[in-house]
Amino acid sequence: METTNIVDIFLKCNINLHPGTLSELSKLKDDEIERILKKAKDGPRVITPEYFKTLIDKEEEAEVLVRRPKKRVHAAEIDSEIKIKHERDVTNKSFSQGDIEGFIKYFNNKFERLAKILKERDILRDTTPIGRIKEGEVKIIGMVCEVRNSKKGHIILEVEDPTGAVPVLISNKSGELLELSRNIIRDEVLGIVGKTWKDMVIADEIHFPDLPVRRETKKSEVDIALALISDTHVGSTKFLENEFKKFIKWTRGEIGSVKQRILAEKIKYLIIGGDLVDGVGIYPGQENELEIKDLNMQYERIAKYLEGIPEHIEIIVISGNHDAVRQAEPQLAISEDFAPQLYTDPRIHMMGNPCHASLHGVDVISYHGRSLDDIISTLPNQSYSKPEKAMVELLRKRHLVPTYGGKVPLSPEAVDYMIIDEPPDILHSGHAHHIGVTNYRGVNVINSGTFQEQTSFQKKLNMMPTPARVPIVDLHEMTTTIMRFM
Ligand SMILES: [Fe+2]
Repeated sequence: METTNIVDIFLKCNINLHPGTLSELSKLKDDEIERILKKAKDGPRVITPEYFKTLIDKEEEAEVLVRRPKKRVHAAEIDSEIKIKHERDVTNKSFSQGDIEGFIKYFNNKFERLAKILKERDILRDTTPIGRIKEGEVKIIGMVCEVRNSKKGHIILEVEDPTGAVPVLISNKSGELLELSRNIIRDEVLGIVGKTWKDMVIADEIHFPDLPVRRETKKSEVDIALALISDTHVGSTKFLENEFKKFIKWTRGEIGSVKQRILAEKIKYLIIGGDLVDGVGIYPGQENELEIKDLNMQYERIAKYLEGIPEHIEIIVISGNHDAVRQAEPQLAISEDFAPQLYTDPRIHMMGNPCHASLHGVDVISYHGRSLDDIISTLPNQSYSKPEKAMVELLRKRHLVPTYGGKVPLSPEAVDYMIIDEPPDILHSGHAHHIGVTNYRGVNVINSGTFQEQTSFQKKLNMMPTPARVPIVDLHEMTTTIMRFM
């Protein structure tokens, strides 16, 4: 721009230029001069060379901010290291016939594997089979067939192993032991130390399989992050489309503060923990709450949204109780017949429920979370607003669906897919539609909430969801940040 023109445009705004400033301005491009003018409008009426310098400094700062999204994205520079433990996934290997023999095999497998975990404790190394207990001190490992509260306030368990069964009494005077025992649920496997009295055992100690007290959490060596979502319920009139689109835009670095964009750039993995769509015919009257009434079209829609996730992000998808697959757990992967679009994208890994994976060396179990219904309705001090607390109980029981025949239909597979043999570094669930994050003995316990507003069904139950919040786990630091999109 000519110097006379520069003087003119500044004079029009009642701003005079020092000759030194004019000479500097004349070296700049037109758009840069205009930006300086805009910033100078609220300043002094004469731009001295000193004041001009501060305007230029601000200009440089602004340029950095503008340039940041154009930089190469951090996570795109890093190769993915994803190992899905297919041997822990029931997809393509469900052999259950649902016959008596199948049930016996299932329960034996569950008992043996949980008993093995309990026997790692010094105190439970020398247990006696229930069929061979003698009078006096006893140590047993058994599966709980029944939990009763007596009129006098004792808790009475009916406990069995392959050799026999025995009632176990937890006295109303046993204080802490009684409180601990209120968390016992049918079909879980326990270690019991006590003494015989008549035909029963009076418990002195109750041991859940639990996690080791000291355990080192594995971390990724490189600075990457994992995003966890679930329960998007696409197809429902309550699906929060705009908020979900905002989340996708954020993963692309298109929105958010500088700090938030830096976090988005670290995302290498995304896990979707089931209930991708609202489904069809899941509950009475659902058709009145559906915007998309065709199941295939619901999946087509979510596949379309996921196309917007940056290409360098690997996506693991597991099934939930609203998805197009059998309801009995362990669930198979969502059927290709209903969601062909999700099978055409090589970075989308379609898995069953639960799914065990190692992401850059960090072990993750993702389980949709239907058994939280059993824990929340049966155990004391549990609620849908603290799903992470109920998830901790699953870890203590080392089983994702501790009760058979509760609210979760289970398929009696010869191998129990729901046992937590190896403690993970992250346990992820959804289903509760409420965000929750805690750490239990080195495991990051995370419930990823939902992208669906409160439904009429939830309103009746007084359930308040926390939609459009996404936990992002920094796998290098093992810290979790909750991003809000509404
Ligand atoms: Fe859900």
